[in-house]
Amino acid sequence: MREEDRDRDFWERKAPQYDRVAKGLFGRPLPRVLELTASGVSGAGTVLEVAAGTGLMTAAIAPRVRQVVATDYADNMLAILRERMKSAGISNVEATHRDIYALGYPPASFDVVVAGNVLHLVPDLERALDALCYVLRLDGKLITPTFVHDETALAWVASRVLANMLGQPMHRRFTTASLRQALEQRGLRITGAETIPGIIPIAYLESGPTIGAGLV
Ligand SMILES: C[S@@+](CC[C@H](N)C(=O)[O-])C[C@H]1O[C@@H](n2cnc3c(N)ncnc32)[C@H](O)[C@@H]1O
Repeated sequence: MREEDRDRDFWERKAPQYDRVAKGLFGRPLPRVLELTASGVSGAGTVLEVAAGTGLMTAAIAPRVRQVVATDYADNMLAILRERMKSAGISNVEATHRDIYALGYPPASFDVVVAGNVLHLVPDLERALDALCYVLRLDGKLITPTFVHDETALAWVASRVLANMLGQPMHRRFTTASLRQALEQRGLRITGAETIPGIIPIAYLESGPTIGAGLV
């Protein structure tokens, strides 16, 4: 099996337990991340959320914007996301299967792109960031809350134990500083940052394309 198919298979299998894990032991940063993300998208017209998973962030984003396109490459995640939107009476979310590398939207289609807790999981980070910048308006905002597994000694240990126990695919481990650097190297300008403590902290970063960085 190809590495990317193996990774996707992991998320398909883990979808039913995802909410419990995300809100449980590792969920301490979640309320603040949702608050920051909701405020970050507030007033936007069209928002693309990639790797939306079960829709924990989607439910916080949708009430603040006109339209959300929520995407993921795991159909079992998307099924839970659709159910969550239905039970919450949220009707401005279109949920659709998309690989982060092959989003299939025209250039500059979205005011805001949200990529939550996925940049550490993609095998080719540069290609993923190129794909996100391609569909983001030149004056748009990229929101990338991301687990920073190497931020503290506790997170360093917890991350490695978790990866061994669950076999979770993990292609890199960030600190807040190295995540910032990866975005800046892609030509993005950081416009907002907060690191939220937890067993594994989450770095909430907002950024925007610098001139010429949107299209590749
Ligand atoms: C840790 S979960 C995060 C879900 C959600 N963003 C959140 O923060 O609750 C990672 C998600 O990324 C998705 N994912 C990983 N690689 C992907 C890719 N190449 N394209 C699309 N989705 C991907 C997985 O299917 C999974 O739903």
